[in-house]
Amino acid sequence: MNEVQIIGTGSYAPLNIMTNHQLSELVDTSDEWIVSMTGIKERHISQGENTSDLATKAALEALKDANVKAEDIDLIIVASTSPDQFVPATACLVQGNIGAVNAMAFDVSAACTGFIFALNIAIQFLKTGERTRALIIGAEVLSKIVDWTDRNTCILFGDGAGAAILEAGTKKGIISINSASQGQKARFLTCPTVDVKNTFAKGNKDFKSTISMDGKEIFKFAVKIIASSINRILKENNYTLDDIKYVVCHQANARIIDLVVRRLKADKNKFFVNLERYGNTSAASIAIAMDEMNKKKLLKAGDKIILVGFGGGLTYGASLIEWTINK
Ligand code: UT7
Repeated sequence: MNEVQIIGTGSYAPLNIMTNHQLSELVDTSDEWIVSMTGIKERHISQGENTSDLATKAALEALKDANVKAEDIDLIIVASTSPDQFVPATACLVQGNIGAVNAMAFDVSAACTGFIFALNIAIQFLKTGERTRALIIGAEVLSKIVDWTDRNTCILFGDGAGAAILEAGTKKGIISINSASQGQKARFLTCPTVDVKNTFAKGNKDFKSTISMDGKEIFKFAVKIIASSINRILKENNYTLDDIKYVVCHQANARIIDLVVRRLKADKNKFFVNLERYGNTSAASIAIAMDEMNKKKLLKAGDKIILVGFGGGLTYGASLIEWTINK
């Protein structure tokens, strides 16, 4: 069996920034409420770019960072809750845009845990030797599926994409990964696509194809599952939090991360947070955070990090990684 390493990262977010003040002109909210309840100050909102456009820009950056040509990529997985179209997969659009002519390309749908799921799937292909070099991307234009009249949700989300290049080799990089789902809780976070309306079915007059969520249920789930996922992956690999340089949680709400820190009696500085500038970018958030850490040179080869995601599905997952990029 091969080992798998991350050899490059990239990210991209639309240039247009929307502040909490701008949101307070759309719905009955305030900068003070949003900051105190979520930690979010602003988010990037697309002015026309679609998910594949963001994903392509993140991918090109990751290829450059890894010093790899698009033709050398043989697997592309895009994780997204907001793909461009039903068909083709956003991954195929990215493949066409970057000229990755030798790749198999497909999407995964695991909401905010999508990047961890994509990583988990890619690892299986690389470990067995079925593929050699993978491009995995978390990309979202959530602004097109947000209900801009619902203050419970529209204040949370932002657009963006993050990418990583993985390579099969002999040196250990990804130490451990696990992903799981709890479909019995699926109703807590939904975004329907199109209604069943045809010769045999009338469709539902209240049908809405926008995000809706039971915020309190997701919040409780998130705190519990992030803390238990971190504990589990540490225990399974005989590590403690002292061995970990950074924990990168899905960036949804600063209060969720604060409660996890308290639950684990951890050092808050170990938990990387950038949600104040991006909001919740769903499948992209962990990948964008990892790229920011890479660009800021916060990690050196040998450092251990934990990525941990949770989201609609409900889904969750975590990965323990030894950083192998030497800057
Ligand atoms: O990637 C996963 C995606 N989802 C999440 O991560 C969501 C997790 N959940 C959350 O982050 C929190 O549930 C929220 C931040 C969304 C909401 O916090 P909460 O503590 O659950 O607040 P709440 O919904 O109970 O609202 C408290 C009050 C209510 O007013 P009353 O009934 O106490 O008078 C709401 O109507 O705040 C009101 N409220 C707002 N006020 C100003 C709700 N949204 C807003 C708003 N601005 N945007």
